[in-house]
Amino acid sequence: MDKKQLILKELRSSDGYVSGQQLCEALGISRTAVWKIIGKLKEEGYPIEAVTNKGYRLLCVEEQDLFNREEVENRLQTRWAGHPLLYSEETGSTNNDIFALADRGFPQGTLALTGTQTAGKGRRGRLWISPPNVNIYMSILLKPDLRPDSAPMLTLVMALAVFEACKALYTSPEEARKCRFGIKWPNDIVVSADGGPFMKICGILTEMRMEEKEIRDIVIGTGINANQTEFPEEIRETAGSLAMALGHEVNRAELTAEVWRFFEADFEAFCEVQSLEPLRTKYEAALVNRGRKVRVLDPQKPFEGTAMGITPTGELVVRPEDGSPDREVGSGEVSVRGVMGYV
Ligand code: BTN
Repeated sequence: MDKKQLILKELRSSDGYVSGQQLCEALGISRTAVWKIIGKLKEEGYPIEAVTNKGYRLLCVEEQDLFNREEVENRLQTRWAGHPLLYSEETGSTNNDIFALADRGFPQGTLALTGTQTAGKGRRGRLWISPPNVNIYMSILLKPDLRPDSAPMLTLVMALAVFEACKALYTSPEEARKCRFGIKWPNDIVVSADGGPFMKICGILTEMRMEEKEIRDIVIGTGINANQTEFPEEIRETAGSLAMALGHEVNRAELTAEVWRFFEADFEAFCEVQSLEPLRTKYEAALVNRGRKVRVLDPQKPFEGTAMGITPTGELVVRPEDGSPDREVGSGEVSVRGVMGYV
């Protein structure tokens, strides 16, 4: 732990004021050094009150959306997912950062987290617009012992973890707005507030590098629209954020830690059998397309039908309208739209 973290720990573990002298003794540094570190913490947004003859006091941090390495690390409850954690104020793309870290020998579980991306990557070569200090942009390094054709399934594992984290944190009876979270196959997380339309709040981009015929490494990049309140015209119909749905800001550090808690468990269950079977019931319960009419945008032969669920390898099972046998739709081959709209 560095000195900044140690001071935060001291302040957190006390209900009242901690004197400058106590901090000097606990850390073995001078009063001036303590004062300088407190100044830095204040600059980062920590609400620290300083009162002559009493010392320093940390006001409630839980309600603030402080997002940095310390805030996330303090909440992480995982064994390996999110360790080590590298935070930057700004970067090009966290997916690219992870590949660079992998080349330097970083282990599975390494997490790159940033405040803003200047070249965020979306699926199908699109740009992922990443405004500063409102959302979550993060990528994890994985080196699983999997067949290469199992890798695309990891995107569904990640989607499930984000869904589970949002449901756990934001659907308590205390929430003023009733939000329903779901997954739009294969990996968009959507939310509907008070019965309104489903809006996309999270996108996932998985990239894999091969060596010979084996997986060298995989990066899963996740962008969660947390506290953004304005969206460009082109995506305003389909994109939303947690804050817009819930009617209040969310604590990004808390959500980040919760996502990795669920991911670690789901990933381990998946790897054990190299199949989504152990997660299928949970995934299908979250699937908003299930039982709904969908249009399968197959470039060869588009068709309409009802989404039934997923296969153990993550394809969407669609029952065609024309009564022909169920079809299994792969995400790489086709895209699925709701007949009435986005979901
Ligand atoms: C999508 O198009 O739905 C996928 C978007 C994925 C965006 C995330 S943000 C963090 C990570 N870094 C990137 O450059 N992209 C992913």
